[in-house]
Amino acid sequence: VPISNIRNFCIMAHIDHGKSTLADKLLQLTGTVQSREMKEQFLDNMDLERERGITIKLQAARMRYMFKTKPYCLNLIDTPGHVDFSYEVSRSLAACEGALLVVDASQGVEAQTLANVYLALENNLEIIPVLNKIDLPGAEPDRVIKEIEEVIGLDCNNAILCSAKEGIGITEILNAIVERIPPPCDTAGSPLRALIFDSYYDPYRGVIVYFRVIDGTIKKGDKIYFMASKKDYFADEIGVLSPNQMQVEELYAGEVGYLSASIRSVADARVGDTITHHGRRAENSLPGYEEATPMVFCGLFPVDADQFPELRDALEKLQLNDAALKFEPEDSSAMGFGFRCGFLGLLHMEIVQERLEREYSLNLITTAPSVVYRVNCANGDIVNCSNPSLLPEPGQRRSIEEPFVKIEMLTPKEYIGSLMELAQERRGEFKEMKYITENRASIIYDLPLAEMVGDFFDQLKSRSKGYASMEYTFVGYKESELIKLDIQINGDRVEPLSTIVHKDKVILMGEEQISEKKLLSKLSTQLSGS
Ligand code: GTP
Repeated sequence: VPISNIRNFCIMAHIDHGKSTLADKLLQLTGTVQSREMKEQFLDNMDLERERGITIKLQAARMRYMFKTKPYCLNLIDTPGHVDFSYEVSRSLAACEGALLVVDASQGVEAQTLANVYLALENNLEIIPVLNKIDLPGAEPDRVIKEIEEVIGLDCNNAILCSAKEGIGITEILNAIVERIPPPCDTAGSPLRALIFDSYYDPYRGVIVYFRVIDGTIKKGDKIYFMASKKDYFADEIGVLSPNQMQVEELYAGEVGYLSASIRSVADARVGDTITHHGRRAENSLPGYEEATPMVFCGLFPVDADQFPELRDALEKLQLNDAALKFEPEDSSAMGFGFRCGFLGLLHMEIVQERLEREYSLNLITTAPSVVYRVNCANGDIVNCSNPSLLPEPGQRRSIEEPFVKIEMLTPKEYIGSLMELAQERRGEFKEMKYITENRASIIYDLPLAEMVGDFFDQLKSRSKGYASMEYTFVGYKESELIKLDIQINGDRVEPLSTIVHKDKVILMGEEQISEKKLLSKLSTQLSGS
C-alpha cells in the first residue's frame, strides 16, 4: 500500500483493562489470525517457552484493513505494561503516530494510564480514547469519560465505547485508526534511520530485531550499522510480522518489520538504537536513546553450592535476551559463591528471580535489595556504591546520598489516610495532595528509592483493597542519615549480608534479615553447623 495508507499505533492500558483482549479482537476482525489459530498459536508459544526458556511475545502485528474500498496497512506495536519498563514504552511510542487509550469503563483512570498518556503526548501521538468493558453492569462510561477529560485534559467527544470481550465497537476502532491517526511522513529518499523498539534472542538465528523505518529504505543483504552499539552487520533476513514472521525483500519509511543479522546478544541491538546503512550513514541518530542503568541490586546465591555453575549459565542465557540485566561474581566464606546482580527495578528483579527458579530449577537465596548510593569521601572523591560491603569505612566518608523517586498514588478518597501513613513510614516527604474527581485523589511524595524497593507496592494494594495505583520517576540524590548494617556470625562479618539502612531502621532490618529460613539453613550447611 502507499505510505498514505499506513497507520502505526499502539495500545496503552492499565493492567487488566483489556489490552490483550482488544488486540486479539483487532487481529481477528482484520482476518490477521483466526480465533482458533490464535489459541493454538498461543499454546505453541507457551510450550516453546517452557522447552527453550525463551519468551516469544506478540510484539508487533501487521493487519490489512479495507476502508471505503481502499486497502490499509495497520501496524500494532505492543508496549510493556509496567513502570520499570517506561523507557521501552517510550521507544515503542516513538515508533507510532497514534495510540489507543483503553480505559475500563467500570474503573477509571489509573496512575499508569496517566504516565503513558504523558509519554504519548511528549511523542506527539494522536490519542483515541476507548472505553472498554461497557458490557459490564457496573460500567459507567459517562463518569469515566468525564474523568479522562478532567484528569488528562483529553477531548473525549469522540471516545469509542467498546466491549473487547463481546466484540462491540471493534469496527469503530479500526475506522478511527484510519481516519484519525496520521500516516507516516514519506522520507524514503533520506539515508536510512530505523528505530529498534524491541529485540529478542533466538538460539538458532541470533537476535531478532523489531524496528520501525523512520527514514529511507532497508533491503535484504544490506550492510547496516547500529549507531549506539557502533557495530556493523549484514541484514541476512528482513520481514514483516503478520503476526508470524514473513520475509520480504525491502522495507520503506513508515513500515514496521524485523531483521536478523547474526547478532549474538540483545545488548548489541538495544531498544532505542538507530539502524543506518554502513555506506550511506545518517548524520544523526534518532533522539531518545538511553543506556540501561540498573537501579536495584541484590546478591543471588544458590542454596545448594553445587548449583553455582548452573546459576552462572542461567544468568548468561537470560542476559542474551535482557540487555538491562547485570551481574558479577561475589563470594564469602559464609554464603559461598554467588552473584551480585543489577536490575531496572523491583519487578524486573522479581521476573529474573522467578525465571531462574522456575525455568532453570534453581533454589536461590536473595539478599536484601539495595540501591546505588553516592558516597562523598573524606578525600573529596565521590564514589557510587551498589554493594554495601564495599562502602568506605566511616572515617573515610563524609556523607552518603541516596536516590529519591517522586511517586504519585491515585486512590479512592477513603484510603488517603492509610496511604499517607504508608508513605510517611517509608520516610516519604509529602509534596502534594489534590482531588482529581469528587471521589479520587492524587497524592505525591518524594520517597527514597530504597524504601520503595521492597513491599511498598504490595502495601499500597493491600491498604487500598486493590483500588489504588502508583507511578514513580527518579528525581535525584539527597543526603540521608544512612549507616551500614553488618551481620556477624561467630564474630565474622558475612559481607554479602551487609546493607545500607537509615539509622532509625537498623534493628528492624537486622531482625528481618536473620529470620529468613532459607538463609539460616544455607548458613548452617555452609558453616557445617558452627
Ligand atoms: P494485562 O495483560 O494483565 O496487562 O491485562 P490486559 O490489559 O491485557 O487485559 P486482558 O485483555 O488480559 O483483560 C483482563 C480481563 O478483563 C480478562 O479477564 C478479560 O477477559 C476481561 N475483559 C477484557 N475486555 C473485556 C470486556 O470488554 N468486557 C468484560 N466484561 N471483560 C473484559
